[in-house]
Amino acid sequence: MKSPIIAPSILSANMAYLGRDLEMINQSRADWVHVDVMDGVFVPNISLGFPVIKAIREHSEKPLDVHLMIVDPSRMIDEFGVCGARSLTVHVEACIHLHRVIHRIKKFNILAGVAINPHTSLSAIEEILPDVDLVCVMGVNPGFGGQTFIPGTLDKISRLSKMIKAAGSHALIEIDGGVDLSNARSLTEAGADVLVAGNAVFSKSSPVDAISELKSVASI
Ligand code: DX5
Ligand code: ZN
Repeated sequence: MKSPIIAPSILSANMAYLGRDLEMINQSRADWVHVDVMDGVFVPNISLGFPVIKAIREHSEKPLDVHLMIVDPSRMIDEFGVCGARSLTVHVEACIHLHRVIHRIKKFNILAGVAINPHTSLSAIEEILPDVDLVCVMGVNPGFGGQTFIPGTLDKISRLSKMIKAAGSHALIEIDGGVDLSNARSLTEAGADVLVAGNAVFSKSSPVDAISELKSVASI
């Protein structure tokens, strides 16, 4: 049986009660904690930076999956490489020298990921597939939690799954944005290994149960 990695997105947590929400994740069936870093330039929102990541790391028993939505992340890989993340993901749209950035991340012995926006063709990441540990497919235009899943993403994941196999890559497929109970199973069936979920977890009266339901419904 394939049981997907569930990564609640802290962007949808209550920032005034971040410790409480991290403790909830600690007690849940979540596998990772997804941490969105936004710079107000690459995406039209600003989220959090190093002091908050440090606090999250100190309170989280689950590995941190850091998603950089910042322009030219090559400037800051050395700082993010030591921030305590298990995985660090940069956007293909933000990197002129993606191969160099991915290999800089790998020097820190953490998972190196590439994220791809809804409008970007998979051909943009085809050559980097053998080098990455994770491909984060955006199911929404990045910047905000709680947006509606873009339906064409499902087929994009199926095509990516075939491309990864053809490339002999071991990359995990992560889906980020718009994941909920209605699409989680079809996403894992299409090839997703990691489900990021913000609104589908934190808008529920019992986020612990929501995480558990996502895990169960998406296990195939
Ligand atoms: C979107 C972020 C996502 C976001 C997902 O730009 O990268 O991680 O938190 O939130 P939901 O699951 O609510 O779409
Ligand atoms: Zn994200």
